[in-house]
Amino acid sequence: MSYERPSVKRLHAYTPGEQPQGGRIIKLNTNENPYPPAPEVLAELGNIDPHALRRYPSPMADEFRRVAARLHGVNPENIIATNGGDELLRLALTCFVEPGEAIGVTRPSYSLYPVLAAIHGASVFEVPRPDDWSLPGNFAAELNRQKVPLGLVVNPHAPSGRLSSVDELAAIANEFKGVLLIDEAYVDFVDPSLNHSTLPLLNQFDNLLILRTLSKGYSLAGLRFGYGIGHADLIAGLHKVRDSYNQDVISQALAVASLTAQQYARQSWQKVRDERARLAAALSQRGMSAPDSEANFLLVDVPGAGQAEVLYQALKQQGILVRWFDQPRLRDKLRISVGSDAENDALLQGVDQFLQAL
Ligand SMILES: Cc1ncc(COP(=O)(O)O)c(C=O)c1O
Repeated sequence: MSYERPSVKRLHAYTPGEQPQGGRIIKLNTNENPYPPAPEVLAELGNIDPHALRRYPSPMADEFRRVAARLHGVNPENIIATNGGDELLRLALTCFVEPGEAIGVTRPSYSLYPVLAAIHGASVFEVPRPDDWSLPGNFAAELNRQKVPLGLVVNPHAPSGRLSSVDELAAIANEFKGVLLIDEAYVDFVDPSLNHSTLPLLNQFDNLLILRTLSKGYSLAGLRFGYGIGHADLIAGLHKVRDSYNQDVISQALAVASLTAQQYARQSWQKVRDERARLAAALSQRGMSAPDSEANFLLVDVPGAGQAEVLYQALKQQGILVRWFDQPRLRDKLRISVGSDAENDALLQGVDQFLQAL
């Protein structure tokens, strides 16, 4: 006997990447940062006042919002703190989409979007990305035609790592009649010489919501802390639909410490970029090329029919986890997170063993 309502019964729950706990696994499957969080974060953890835990947390994460606002050159009313970027996605659906309506996404995209839509009773309208994974030129027009109230664009794109320009995003925000959520989960890894920032667009567009997370750039996937940046009216709507205390005392304190330690974070981003370039070149020498990535992962082509899945399994047997997607256009590829230099060396050795055995 099932007590679930029919739409929940039909639901295919989100499948997270494998998360083995402990052991000597090399985890290059869920785009975590290979470096530890800033030392200031652990120091702050030791300083948590027990009396602060006795009380409820700041409902709106006031100090975090002040620090984030200063960092991004906006006001605290332009920021909402959330339980991971994932909560912001859910709040955006709750706030901007009536059940029965649709969200608009590019395909392929973050596989949580359709799951959140299904939970909300919304459908998904997908516009395919061209072969080079760039943004579909007709995205805004198609979404308007379908009267979609919320569009989501991951930039840099997951799973390809391709970065779309600020001008392209501005054109979409300008043409699109709904709320445009730019999911910038991986934006910290973008080469700074590209001068890529969508923040100035917030002065131009009141329908723009930017997702950020501490999971990747700040090495805090275990903390569950993300935030949204947008026009004060959009943010006020999102606050209406969140849990009253959606971030606990410890998370808020650690998130403040983490965002404040900018120099440390920036160094880790540079190390990831350096390793990304080295890994891409080394894989390409082995016949496995990847499109240019501005994220902390590479979408690697594995030549030979069915060989991507075989390599995924072979690496897994060696204790190296990468991601293989059983999806159209992705079955001949592996998405590999950029690890530390030692992890990347181990991956390359694993690939060499696989190639030698062919
Ligand atoms: C594209 C994209 N958006 C958002 C997120 C949300 O991350 P988190 O909830 O850990 O902040 C992820 C996590 O993998 C992601 O890949």
